[in-house]
Amino acid sequence: MKYALVTGGSRGIGRAITVRLAQEGYQVIINYTSNQAEAEKTLASINGQGELLPFDVSDYQQVRQALDDWQQRHPDDYIEVIVNNAGIRRDNVLALMPKDDWHRVLDITLSGFFNVTQPLLPAMQMHKFGRIVNMASVSGLKGLPGQTNYSAAKGGVIAATKALAQEVARRGITVNAVAPGFIKTDMTEGLDEASLKKLIPANRFGTPEEVADLVAFLVSPQAGYITGNVISINGGMYT
Ligand SMILES: NC(=O)c1ccc[n+]([C@@H]2O[C@H](COP(=O)([O-])OP(=O)(O)OC[C@H]3O[C@@H](n4cnc5c(N)ncnc54)[C@H](OP(=O)(O)O)[C@@H]3O)[C@@H](O)[C@H]2O)c1
Repeated sequence: MKYALVTGGSRGIGRAITVRLAQEGYQVIINYTSNQAEAEKTLASINGQGELLPFDVSDYQQVRQALDDWQQRHPDDYIEVIVNNAGIRRDNVLALMPKDDWHRVLDITLSGFFNVTQPLLPAMQMHKFGRIVNMASVSGLKGLPGQTNYSAAKGGVIAATKALAQEVARRGITVNAVAPGFIKTDMTEGLDEASLKKLIPANRFGTPEEVADLVAFLVSPQAGYITGNVISINGGMYT
């Protein structure tokens, strides 16, 4: 059996990725932090082809414990795909940004990447195959006002993607980032879609399923020569 871990795999983009990877034959390890009802719905939607693994990606000890427990339950298996998708936003102009909002966004998005990826790398290196996809954002490429914390976190993820890709390429492991524009999920729920879509050449928000299709390609064996890259998926908004 092949295993894929999707952080924040219970809702939004992560849920669509979970469903798509299950279609590709993966047992999907669905991570989330608090909303168990949505996580169970997601697991049911893939007919139980995986399992729930709750932990807060920003908490190194909690992540370590959960991954160690998983390994003990699956002594002969390894996680060959990681989708570092968990993320939050806490928008504010920098002048008014509470310190906690700066740290929370960095801790989940950027340190979450480290906390989850680092313990799983040795097994990927041993098996000489692995796929890591990090969820970035248009904010991490161009920076968006009102999102200095989020832009810094996503920019950090992009730089980390490029660095790690060079460390592990010889071991058959690819590391890429996906940079969505506006995608219809709970995260974009409160935004004024009617006026924002005027900024998007495609004149609409994207769907989680469209992002999931891109991720499915990046984790496939056919994408083995694509590494250290950032693939935008934004309806032509960013050039
Ligand atoms: N939507 C967009 O337009 C857009 C654009 C660019 C980039 N992105 C990025 O895409 C990713 C997914 O976004 P989304 O719109 O699908 O978000 P979402 O609908 O708000 O879902 C977020 C998911 O992340 C989980 N999560 C939040 N904090 C966590 C933590 N500390 N530890 C583990 N899991 C955690 C949530 O679990 P619970 O249900 O338990 O809270 C949920 O499964 C994020 O990294 C986001 O920054 C989104």
